[in-house]
Amino acid sequence: MDHPLRIGIWALVHGNRAALRDPLEPYDASWDRNRRLVLEAERLGYDCVLVAQHTMNPHRTDLGQLEAWTSSAALAAQTRRIEIIAAIKPMLYHPVVLAKMALQIEEISGGRFAINLVNAWNRKEIEDAGLVFREHDERYTYGAEWLEVVEQLMRGEEVNHDGRFFQVRNYRLEPRSATRARPRIYVGGESPPARDLVAAQADVWFINGQPLEDVKALIADVRQRPRRGEPVRFGLSTFVIARETEAEARAEYERLLALAKQDADIKAYVKANTDAAVAMRKTQAKFESVGTNGGTAGGTVGSYDQVAERIAAFHAAGIDTLLTQFQPFEAEMRRFAEHVMPRLAHLRAVPAAVPESAA
Ligand SMILES: Cc1cc2nc3c(=O)[nH]c(=O)nc-3n(C[C@H](O)[C@H](O)[C@H](O)COP(=O)(O)O)c2cc1C
Repeated sequence: MDHPLRIGIWALVHGNRAALRDPLEPYDASWDRNRRLVLEAERLGYDCVLVAQHTMNPHRTDLGQLEAWTSSAALAAQTRRIEIIAAIKPMLYHPVVLAKMALQIEEISGGRFAINLVNAWNRKEIEDAGLVFREHDERYTYGAEWLEVVEQLMRGEEVNHDGRFFQVRNYRLEPRSATRARPRIYVGGESPPARDLVAAQADVWFINGQPLEDVKALIADVRQRPRRGEPVRFGLSTFVIARETEAEARAEYERLLALAKQDADIKAYVKANTDAAVAMRKTQAKFESVGTNGGTAGGTVGSYDQVAERIAAFHAAGIDTLLTQFQPFEAEMRRFAEHVMPRLAHLRAVPAAVPESAA
């Protein structure tokens, strides 16, 4: 594996990841909670934070929802080391506006900013705003053209683009990144058009949590799709339950599973609003799990040793960014940092540069 293992967290933009009615984790998606969470994650050694984008809370419209881009700018100002990845649904922002916002946060963060392009599943969120929710593959056609414009603008190039969806003339943004060519581009999505988009235009692909063999097949599939430039890199979302013993971890899994069943009303609401064509939903339906975006389906439930071994196996398969979910989040994030991170230290160390005289 060429790249050291990086470990990140999901910000709690819509509260708990596994079950909304948990006495150990009261609902809280506030800015103040997320600010404290990310500052602590940075202190504990986590490498990145994904701030997902939802305008309306996707679970219940009366619940709080953190706004991704304004929060990412504020996080950029308050942190020093952690990479901040803000999700973006292209139909919500014109590419010129979004590229400008990305470059601003790149400056505020001193070169630690990234976007995660996601092509949306929540029909209600888009249509109730009076915007067009295109059908699945058409969203990818739109997203690809949108990203083409954003990518060039983030590089500081003068853009002249006369496409199907966007017409941009003589546009150039300043300042560009002071430290690199442009902010990093992640893509989250799993369908065949998502994989084409990743191969053609992304730096890193975020895969939904699922068993090791399925992840290996997905990586192989994307590696054989047309691409120019640097090889694409891979990230994986996973919900972690790690304990001293496997039995304790299983007991906690059962606790969360039982709690998640109490959210049947919320799941029915989400299902009714979800575009039936999205691959994410089919993946989630294949496996019993807790958490979102595949949850525990990747098998990160067990003793500290078992969880570390599973993560090492994913790293050996090509995953270099692991995006973790926990519940209750803060306590379990600390536990992971204390017990699992040291077991992965050999995979996380940046290889020492070879001195020129030794080359
Ligand atoms: C790591 C990851 C993060 C995601 N973040 C968001 C998000 O912030 N907002 C959102 O609406 N969807 C998000 N999604 C879901 C995508 O919008 C979803 O996968 C979409 O349906 C793409 O379609 P596909 O999976 O059929 O390719 C995310 C997916 C992944 C894998």
